[in-house]
Amino acid sequence: MPKPKYRNPFRPGAGHMPPYLAGRQQERQEFLRLLEQDVILENLLLTGLRGVGKTVLLDTLKPLAMQQGWLWVGADLSETTSLTESHITTRLLADLSVVTSSLTLDKRTVQHLGFGKPTKVERKLNFEMMSQLYATTPGLSSDKLKAVLETAWMVMRRQDARGIIFAYDEAQNMKDHSAKDEYPLSLLLDVFQSIQKKEIPFMLLLTGLPTLFPKLVEARTFSERMFRVLFLDRLNEEECREAIVKPVDKLPEKMSEESVQLAIRESGGYPYFIQFICREVYDVLLQHIGREVFIPMQDITRKLDTDFFAGRWARATDRQRDLLQVVASLSDCDNEFTLQQVSKKSRSVLDKPFSTSQISQMFAKLAEAGLVYKNRHGKYSFAVPMLGQFISRQGT
Ligand SMILES: Nc1ncnc2c1ncn2[C@@H]1O[C@H](COP(=O)(O)OP(=O)(O)OP(=O)(O)O)[C@@H](O)[C@H]1O
Ligand SMILES: [Mg+2]
Repeated sequence: MPKPKYRNPFRPGAGHMPPYLAGRQQERQEFLRLLEQDVILENLLLTGLRGVGKTVLLDTLKPLAMQQGWLWVGADLSETTSLTESHITTRLLADLSVVTSSLTLDKRTVQHLGFGKPTKVERKLNFEMMSQLYATTPGLSSDKLKAVLETAWMVMRRQDARGIIFAYDEAQNMKDHSAKDEYPLSLLLDVFQSIQKKEIPFMLLLTGLPTLFPKLVEARTFSERMFRVLFLDRLNEEECREAIVKPVDKLPEKMSEESVQLAIRESGGYPYFIQFICREVYDVLLQHIGREVFIPMQDITRKLDTDFFAGRWARATDRQRDLLQVVASLSDCDNEFTLQQVSKKSRSVLDKPFSTSQISQMFAKLAEAGLVYKNRHGKYSFAVPMLGQFISRQGT
């Protein structure tokens, strides 16, 4: 008799909701606390390494906000969205119009030429209307945008809404372009700070890689006070276990204790790796023949290297790879490292070592590529979990 095939519940993939979202209670509590604000003093910023679960957590915050009477709008911020002030404005108005376009801005009596009776015309607060309002408001783009948002709130407050959450994922893509005289990031921060001062309950919820917060502070120092920053970390052992065991709770095939231990250890507690490893392990369990189950961890690791790491590694130049190899050979590479440490190490392992200023420039490029980031104390870390081990596996 062939064994019946059961569905594999694990979901390794960017933004794919896991079968069981483990942990993150504190973050949810914190978000609920922020929703209690009548005047918005703190906005939320969710940050963390690649694949740590920012997007899926963001998705679970939406129903929480809606249950508390908030409206929710938002999108992914691509690089093109944040290229110019006009792009980011279009983004905001397009998102806002989703919840406002059925609302009436005003009713006007229009007197037609000739003998016709005057008629009442309703103007809806849709995208076209808001764009028109934007275009006809005098001043800088920030004045125009503020005026539209204020008008939108004046109309909305007649409804029951408590406020609006503007949720933007991948917000590390935003940046100012001084050479082009375009400041979309500063515009966003200025406008929200200003309308929040006027007690308009529009809250920003940004998520992104660890480069995000330093970028905001660099654009506007007041960002430091404007955001409550939550750094999503790896799951602890108990949470890992739940993420692994709960999805198969009701399925006929269970994860053996040995497989659970293996997945916890090999994933390092990082959610994407948990999903990835468990998906592979569970496939093995579903398909095994005979008594002994052998988990081919080496093959799984090789597959993970190809699926997750190889693409990012391929984009690095030879010289950048040399540098990253040096970093990976530091004992503390999974934590943080300084320019001096890397430079010193490069002198002991390379014929052509790197100076601290070279490293600093190269790290800036690697940060743009989402491979490393600089923390607030001027030290660096990998922005991709367990990148050090991957690099070491590549040999020299
Ligand atoms: N708390 C969790 N419990 C179990 N699995 C999780 C958890 N959080 C995320 N995952 C899984 O981890 C993977 C990555 O999640 P997600 O795409 O949300 O990460 P991210 O931080 O947004 O990554 P990126 O930086 O690439 O945008 C997904 O497969 C998701 O199902
Ligand atoms: Mg994401």
